[in-house]
Amino acid sequence: MDRRQMESAIAGVVRYLGASLKNRGLYPPTHPLVRTPVEKCRMELAPFFADRSELALTVSDGTLVLEGVPIFQLTSSLELFMARLGAIGLPAVIFERGVSVEDIELFVRFLHETREQGLPIPEIKARLAAWGITHIRVTATEEEEKDDFTFAREIYGNALNVVVRALKDVRNGKTPDGAESDRAVREMSGMVSRNRDAMLALTLIKNFDTYTYNHSVNVSVLSLAVAETLGLPEPERIAIGVAGLLHDVGKTQLALDLIRKPGTLTVEEFEEIKKHPEEGYAILGKMTHIQESTRSVVREHHMRFDRTGYPRPEPEYRLNPHSHVIAVSDCYDALTTMRSYQKARTPQQALEIMRKLAGKSLDPDLVELLERSLGVYPVGTMVRLSTMEVGIVTGSADGGKGEPKVAIVFDRAGNPLAAPEGVDLKEYDPSSGRPRRMILGTVNPLMHPPVSMSGVLQTVSV
Ligand SMILES: [Fe+2]
Ligand SMILES: [Fe+2]
Repeated sequence: MDRRQMESAIAGVVRYLGASLKNRGLYPPTHPLVRTPVEKCRMELAPFFADRSELALTVSDGTLVLEGVPIFQLTSSLELFMARLGAIGLPAVIFERGVSVEDIELFVRFLHETREQGLPIPEIKARLAAWGITHIRVTATEEEEKDDFTFAREIYGNALNVVVRALKDVRNGKTPDGAESDRAVREMSGMVSRNRDAMLALTLIKNFDTYTYNHSVNVSVLSLAVAETLGLPEPERIAIGVAGLLHDVGKTQLALDLIRKPGTLTVEEFEEIKKHPEEGYAILGKMTHIQESTRSVVREHHMRFDRTGYPRPEPEYRLNPHSHVIAVSDCYDALTTMRSYQKARTPQQALEIMRKLAGKSLDPDLVELLERSLGVYPVGTMVRLSTMEVGIVTGSADGGKGEPKVAIVFDRAGNPLAAPEGVDLKEYDPSSGRPRRMILGTVNPLMHPPVSMSGVLQTVSV
């Protein structure tokens, strides 16, 4: 293929993608105006794969670039296509040899139907996999790949995939691969040691639809942070992390509408829910690479510190102390998440509630330890600055000293910024010799329009 042929083929590929996406919004999915461009796009792609195994489509500085060739002549449908890529948060799309009409069709549907903005790459990867799209993948751009937040996102996303697969396996009557959970937790544990903020920040990106999966990974990350603050040796940290990842695996036996049910449960429904620790214990018993203490912790995670939970422990039964770590993380993540029956609490509100539960359902020492693990201004806290701007904490102060990292989301008049702006609180105002911005205190986020945590985290590079 010479350069001219290539350019015309490239123009064809993107034109047909754009046309199909645009027509998606106008016609039913089976309509020829949706289907035909997809078929034509596949045809235009074919010659490229004669001498290469993949083709990269990127958006760089507002320009669409296919295999290094910028496309300047934008039609309205191409603009729409680019806008959708940007909104969802896809910096680069790779078409692999073997890509089928079905893959392209599903991908266009994915672009059309995904409503969330600024999704992290691992999340997009997980979704493409869940949609059954096999030969189209996404990658971060190179510069993004360098920072810890991107690493953390990859690691978080992989863990999410492991949970999705494990729960799917259980639902299909198969035993999940314990080695996968072990590997995912080792990666997360490494990242928690290396950059705790980067990992903890991700636990605040909540997704209502994938609550069970995110919750599992979040409990694992939070427990790993507590385990590290406790100074536990590595094998114990991994055992706790795996327990966090799989603590609710027994819930797969429950009907989905029961898990998602808003409002209070009936006595019978609650009896069903109460079975999940034992179910989990049984499932983990069949898996390889699972430490015995991990199994016990999964069975015990609802027994509570004061032993009033379920399954009710016999008087002489000794709980694994790590079960209380999972209980504390479980509680914190549940409180800071919006559910069908509750609004999300801020980190401060959640910790306040937990302090009241300390000594009762929760281990008081561990509640304190969680607070310490999260810092004075946990990542995700909304704060008012001395400039009257409102920001969100994106990273704690280094080693408890200095200032946390903050991204401004509302200006002094309370208007949302077009894009969150990361600011350095160490920055001095040369005229006064004082810091330009200082934290005055926390702000109730309910007083402001909702802020997308993943958008905020994009301002951060470490
Ligand atoms: Fe549970
Ligand atoms: Fe849970």
